[in-house]
Amino acid sequence: MITRRQSLALAAGSLAAGWAGASAAQAAPSLHDLAQRSGRRFGSAVGAGAPGTLTASFDNARYRQLLERECGVLVHENELKWYVLRPEADRFVFGPADRIAGFAAERGMGLRGHTLIWHHPQWFPAWTTTHDYGARPAAEVERLVLEHIDAIIDRYGAIDSWDVINEAVDPADGSLRVTPFSQRMGGPEAVMDLAFRRAREKAPGAQLVYNDYMSWEAGHETHQAGVLRLLEGFRARGVPCDALGVQSHIGSGNADDSVGFDTARDDNWRRFLDEVVGMGYDLVITEFDVHDRNLPADVPARDAAVAALARRYLDLMLSYPQMGDILCWGLSDQHTWLQDRWLRDDRLPKRPTPYDADYRPKPLREAIAAALRDATPRRTA
Ligand code: XIL
Repeated sequence: MITRRQSLALAAGSLAAGWAGASAAQAAPSLHDLAQRSGRRFGSAVGAGAPGTLTASFDNARYRQLLERECGVLVHENELKWYVLRPEADRFVFGPADRIAGFAAERGMGLRGHTLIWHHPQWFPAWTTTHDYGARPAAEVERLVLEHIDAIIDRYGAIDSWDVINEAVDPADGSLRVTPFSQRMGGPEAVMDLAFRRAREKAPGAQLVYNDYMSWEAGHETHQAGVLRLLEGFRARGVPCDALGVQSHIGSGNADDSVGFDTARDDNWRRFLDEVVGMGYDLVITEFDVHDRNLPADVPARDAAVAALARRYLDLMLSYPQMGDILCWGLSDQHTWLQDRWLRDDRLPKRPTPYDADYRPKPLREAIAAALRDATPRRTA
């Protein structure tokens, strides 16, 4: 059934197409409309970073229009991370996160929460290493973590899916990363279990997610194995984790992956996902983009390769009925985190998102749309 909003959009799209040659994407159903057909939501990250920077997509009216047109769920790019939200132990900065949450609420969009703890020492604010933890450091960490979780969940009650823990597994050897908190609490498990349990208490209706970047590409086997051990541990200890967040920064050129597209290994990846869902976990695509660092300079060729890889990946992911929401880590090449790191040898701007830097839809948008059209219906417990 076509909703009133869709038919207005269609009418507006065909008018625009008649007058100004607007793209097919504008007249077509939104990516969120397509996702909903199989019981899912489509969305994107948006950032309220320093004006004029890559992470300031929220300040860009064109970007906001794109969010409104395509998305049913948003996620803060950085605004809920400790280093932004809590620059000092006793100071919370909610303003930037509030603006994005307010925008989503006004437009009836859902909101994901990223992240209660980024369990990676590089991303802990500096004060966590110099803080006076007192005579009972474990108790002080517990106090800080609970205070943090309570403050965020109390403020952002609309968030219905939480990345409770992000990136706890070290891809080098599959072990759990040591952080300023885990050192003082007697191990990473203690911190993670506490966070999941508190999140469940505070947000009983929300989906609780463990989020990480293990991927289908060659070289990720150790990371995958570490994540499986972690998820098994959650089950053994009765930790309330509902889903694995598969970040899905696919393509080439991530910090731990400099290989090309042809090394994707579907069978290995399916075995991994089968183990995850076999333990009763759902799946979420939390940060999708396609890194084009090692692809040819020629734009049509590059865009075609990105789209083809995306289609292959999303078809595989969306064949799982346990697979839920799908969020891109940015919708326009003007505002993607990949633009200022792991640069291309030719220094050309990258094209990892569904819209180019001028907000024109790319073949990647069509690949996502096609995968959503063909998706296996989502099965909810
Ligand atoms: C990235 C942001 O996009 C950047 O702006 C920031 O400098 C670093 O973090 N995995 C994650 C996200 O879980 O939080 C990261 O976001 C991208 C990789």
